[in-house]
Amino acid sequence: MMPWRAGVTDSRRDVKRAHRKDRSFVLLDYLHQRGIPPQTRVLELGCGWGLVGVACAKTFQAQVTVLDADAAVFPYLQLHAARNGIHLATRQSTFADLTPQDLAAFELIVGADICFWEDLVDSLYQLVRHGVAAGVAEILVADPSRPPFDELCARCVPLGDAEVFTWTMTTPVAETGRILRVVGRGTEARHAGRHAGGALDCTRS
Ligand SMILES: C[S@@+](CC[C@H](N)C(=O)[O-])C[C@H]1O[C@@H](n2cnc3c(N)ncnc32)[C@H](O)[C@@H]1O
Repeated sequence: MMPWRAGVTDSRRDVKRAHRKDRSFVLLDYLHQRGIPPQTRVLELGCGWGLVGVACAKTFQAQVTVLDADAAVFPYLQLHAARNGIHLATRQSTFADLTPQDLAAFELIVGADICFWEDLVDSLYQLVRHGVAAGVAEILVADPSRPPFDELCARCVPLGDAEVFTWTMTTPVAETGRILRVVGRGTEARHAGRHAGGALDCTRS
């Protein structure tokens, strides 16, 4: 059983909050507004039920790999994939186990609600660093802005082309979240423009 489940007793409040406010909707809404070129190679980190990965494959015809340390999530994902008529590649792995070579296979890396514990900060930071060095064009992580996520942002922003912004959506559900966006050397991602800077935080309805 995965640590985030095994540790529910210690972090009950955080886990409950993660389920009550779903940041995968926020990330999806942002991606819908932006779009993704067809056939983009996407990796969803800590996919859980895989909403973001399923939507990227179905809506944008992306080539999606969904990753989670907990193999128990994959049957649910395959069910969602079958219901939506799409294909997803699955990978059981921790964030820390991903090598730069693994990351180099992707153009876009996404994750929602994946930085909820202090001990995830370092492995995600290293993943971002290695991903950018390996040539990943863009990395997006969405969160309600819990302290571990804020720490991850504080460590990533000095890396260079990174920003953190608030994204608010009102339909089909009202949700707000923070998005860490790290842009790599790929040129495509730069075309999406920057969002940060307080005044440019976005609300969409
Ligand atoms: C709060 S859930 C979020 C699931 C999904 N992204 C969503 O927004 O609904 C966190 C997910 O990250 C996975 N996870 C936690 N720690 C991980 C790690 N170190 N490596 C890979 N996956 C991890 C868990 O198994 C779980 O599926």
